[in-house]
Amino acid sequence: MFRERLAESAEAARACLIDALPSAGPMAEPMRYAVSGGKGLRGFLVLEGAAMLGVPASAARFPAAAVEAIHAYSLVHDDLPAMDDDDLRRGQPTLHRKWDEATAILAGDALQSLAFELVSEPETGPAEVRVALARSLAQAAGARGMVLGQALDIAAETAAAPLTLDEIIALQAGKTGALIRWSAAAGALLAGEDPEPLTRYGAALGLAFQIADDVLDVEGDASTLGKAVGKDAEAGKATFVSLLGLEPAKSRASELVQEAEDALKPYGKRADVLREAARFVIAREA
Ligand code: IPE
Ligand code: IPE
Ligand code: MG
Ligand code: MG
Ligand code: MG
Repeated sequence: MFRERLAESAEAARACLIDALPSAGPMAEPMRYAVSGGKGLRGFLVLEGAAMLGVPASAARFPAAAVEAIHAYSLVHDDLPAMDDDDLRRGQPTLHRKWDEATAILAGDALQSLAFELVSEPETGPAEVRVALARSLAQAAGARGMVLGQALDIAAETAAAPLTLDEIIALQAGKTGALIRWSAAAGALLAGEDPEPLTRYGAALGLAFQIADDVLDVEGDASTLGKAVGKDAEAGKATFVSLLGLEPAKSRASELVQEAEDALKPYGKRADVLREAARFVIAREA
C-alpha cells in the first residue's frame, strides 16, 4: 500500500519532469536517462506534505519534479570518476559510462537549471510562494547544503584523522539532509503554513535515510540496489557505519525514525502516510 503510493507519486513527479525536458537535441536523451528509475522519495515528500495541508497536486507537482531534477543531477555528478567513480546507477550504466564525462557534467548542469524553471512555474502558486521555494531550494542544493555535504564527503576520504560523530552528522545533514528537509517542508511553503514541524521531520528522516544508505553499502545486494556495494569502506568514506559499526548505526537510525514520527504530532492522523515513509526509509532494501 505504502509502496504503491510511493510509486504513484514518483510517477507523477517524473511525468512532470519528463514533460519539461528538451524533446530534441544533444541533451534530450542523456537528461531523460538521468531521471529514469529511482524511488522518487523526495518528490513523494513534496506531494504528500502538500496533500496533507490541502495543496492540490496540480500545484505541488512542479516543486516535486524540481527536487527530483536536482537529486538526479547530484547522482550523475556523484558517480563521476572525480567523485565516487561508479559504473552502475539505478540498475543501469552510469551516465558517463553510457555517454562520456562531458555529457554527464552537462546533463547534470542542465537538470539543475531546469529545477529552477520548474519551481517558478506559474501553476505552483503566487509569486511570493515561488520565490520562497526557489530561494530555499537554491540554499538546500548549494554550498551551504548538498554541495557542502558532498565536498565534506570527498575531503573526508583523505583526512588525516577519522571524522567525529558531530562532523559526520554535519556532512550528512548537507549531502542528503538538505534536499530531504526541503522536500518535507515544501508542502508547508506551498500552503503558507509554518514549515517548522515538517522541517524537523525532514531532518530526522534525512539522517535516518543516509544511515540506511550507508548500512546498505555494507549489507545490501548490488542487483537489488542497482548500484555497487562495498564502495564506502574501499574509498575511506566517513559514515555512521565506519565510526560506530553496523548495529549502533542501525539503532541510531531507529531512534531517528521515532524522532521523525514525533515531529508529526501537530498533524495528527493526517500525517499517517508521512509516518509510514519514516519507517520505510530504514526498512528498505533499495
Ligand atoms: C541515493 O539516493 C543517494 C543518496 C543521497 C543517499 P536514493 O536512494 O534516493 O536514490 P534513488 O533516487 O532512489 O535512485
Ligand atoms: C550521494 O551520496 C549523495 C548525493 C548524490 C548528494 P552517496 O555517494 O552515498 O550515494 P550513493 O551511495 O552513490 O547512491
Ligand atoms: Mg558520494
Ligand atoms: Mg556515491
Ligand atoms: Mg552511499
